[in-house]
Amino acid sequence: MKPMQSNVQIVATGHYVPEKIVSNIDLEKIVETSDEWIYTRTGIKNRRHVEHMDTSDLATKAVQNLVDSTHYDLSKVDLIIVATFSPDLKSPAVANMVQRKLGLGDKPMTAFDINAACTGFVYALSVASSMLQSGAYLSALVIGAEVISKVTDFSDRNTCVLFGDGAGCIVLEPTSQSKPAWFFPLARGDYEQALYVDQFVHMDGQKVYHFAVRAIEFVLEEITKEAKLSYEDITLFIPHQANRRIVQNASKTLQIPMEKFYMNIEHYGNTSAASIAIAFDEVMKQTPLPADSKILFVAFGAGFTYGACILTI
Ligand code: UT7
Repeated sequence: MKPMQSNVQIVATGHYVPEKIVSNIDLEKIVETSDEWIYTRTGIKNRRHVEHMDTSDLATKAVQNLVDSTHYDLSKVDLIIVATFSPDLKSPAVANMVQRKLGLGDKPMTAFDINAACTGFVYALSVASSMLQSGAYLSALVIGAEVISKVTDFSDRNTCVLFGDGAGCIVLEPTSQSKPAWFFPLARGDYEQALYVDQFVHMDGQKVYHFAVRAIEFVLEEITKEAKLSYEDITLFIPHQANRRIVQNASKTLQIPMEKFYMNIEHYGNTSAASIAIAFDEVMKQTPLPADSKILFVAFGAGFTYGACILTI
């Protein structure tokens, strides 16, 4: 397979993180760890944990924040895709719950979830773009949302310090303007055992780390080659926020300055499918990018899944 191309425009973004901040110092009180170990190995200082909310609540709040800040008319939405590995229930999908919570429950539309773990948001964007490209849909609401604290073993220091809860979202629409986008969602099923979730998250951190470093290099080379873009042509890289050292490694190998990678892992930890969506909304709110700039998302996670996409602002 090769990267897919489509033409879509980003019309709005939003995010929500729970209010409860859990610091490295808080975690020192429950497992044998230290602020120094966590920060130097990962770049994480704090993460957010829900108190009385589930994944569909965070997703709905993210969309409400999108509406508050952009006044986007949600009645246009006819496609909702939620990327998550931590749904409220096995069925129905979080997307259906969000549809109802947004007051769109009786509007005919397509709504479903995608589980591609931490690459879920990149997968969801690529599916949504293909569906928009078909001409059948007017507005796609794509959400990454996770409550990882409910599948975290707080006696396992290998995993419990890494993850956080949150949600981010984006609305994509078809456009007659030139807004080229490329999508390259990939998977390697032979790494399945290195990272999986049953009652709790289990991870062989070293194995995931080494895979992630190679995966980022591979997808960035392939997707930019297909798009006929150089790394200089990309205004900003938004990587999945799993470990600052993974991104520093890619920055060094690919000779892309670290300043071109947006990082917020310090504040939220690894929020899996939500991480790129949260980061992108922060970017759009803090330093809006000039029209026609190219933005690249790159992710990796359980499956193993990995992938990238390039969007034109
Ligand atoms: O989003 C999904 C994708 N996930 C990832 O990308 C995660 C990728 N992996 C990583 O980010 C890193 O492998 C970790 C941050 C998970 C671990 O860092 P590491 O440098 O690979 O450490 P390690 O697993 O090799 O462990 C080194 C030592 C071990 O002790 P010994 O055996 O050397 O005595 C661990 O037991 O660090 C110990 N350790 C800890 N110590 C203090 C593991 N977790 C902790 C902890 N606090 N929380």
